[in-house]
Amino acid sequence: MIGTDPSRAAEILRAGGLVALPTETVYGLAADARQPDAVRRIFTTKGRPADHPLIVHIADAALLHEWARDIPEYARLLAAAYWPGPLTVILHKQPDVLDLVTGGQGTVGIRIPAHTLTLRVLRELGSGVAAPSANKFGKVSPTTAQHVSADLGEAFGAEGGYILDGGPCLVGVESTIIDCTGPLPRLLRAGAVSASMVEETTGLALLNSDGSVRAPGTLPSHYSPNANIHIVSADDLDEYPGAGLIAMHNVHTPHGMTRLLSARDEGEYARGLYSALRKADELGLADACAVLPASDGLGAAIQDRLRRAAY
Ligand code: TXA
Ligand code: MG
Repeated sequence: MIGTDPSRAAEILRAGGLVALPTETVYGLAADARQPDAVRRIFTTKGRPADHPLIVHIADAALLHEWARDIPEYARLLAAAYWPGPLTVILHKQPDVLDLVTGGQGTVGIRIPAHTLTLRVLRELGSGVAAPSANKFGKVSPTTAQHVSADLGEAFGAEGGYILDGGPCLVGVESTIIDCTGPLPRLLRAGAVSASMVEETTGLALLNSDGSVRAPGTLPSHYSPNANIHIVSADDLDEYPGAGLIAMHNVHTPHGMTRLLSARDEGEYARGLYSALRKADELGLADACAVLPASDGLGAAIQDRLRRAAY
């Protein structure tokens, strides 16, 4: 069921149950990260392969050492600058962090989400929660409680699963992931914390991912709806009559196209992107065109998700 009671959510988690939690990026499907049976249920509910690592969500940077060790100074700078917020750091794990959470790797991903309700849940629980995005594996991430219910309703609702409704997500695309296990930070997934923000905060060069770390977010065709997504320049939209259109507001909708998103700025584009992809499927559109925003800042994360959806 869908509700708004953080205490109820904390109780369910403590008892080993799953709860869908709101964050500023996307909704997560959470389990107490210290309870193996609970974490195992995340994988069965999502239909996700069990060797994929999960992000641990905590309420306070002072708890970081309970999960991670050998934390470099630049990771502390990033945490201080962007937490609570859309940034995940990958660090060497403490020995007692469950293999189920880390996918058997020696590292763990951690972030503090910026959502009041979820921070209350985490404080009441007094632990961290492992939480992937609350969608079926390979599908579009949910940015409202209703999206979660539509995706996981059967698998999750039937078991009395609780969806904590914190409203629509304010960022709308998944967190930036920075690997902090080497001498220099390495970008594993683009998000609202941009590459230049990371470089400015740390004073270090940011490396590109070389693909050696397993990360489902980097599979080419991850965030995909059923509709075929085409990346198109505004001048070529006439070639796609009958398709949906995702673009900034200054791009005109040609006759016969269905507008799925009209964003005034990049923030609005990111917030509305996944709803627009879902809408394409709800309307049964075979094709949808996306006119990309500029590639700086949040635009890089939007471009990344759309290229994967179009792959
Ligand atoms: O914004 C977000 O990060 C959302 C919300 C719910 O917090 N979560 C999310 O989780 O997007 P998920 O599971 O859909 O994506 C997590 C990504 C995956 O690509 C995973 O491989 C990577 O984080 N990851 C987690 N732990 C890792 C580790 N130890 N090493 C490398 N990548 C890791
Ligand atoms: Mg995901």
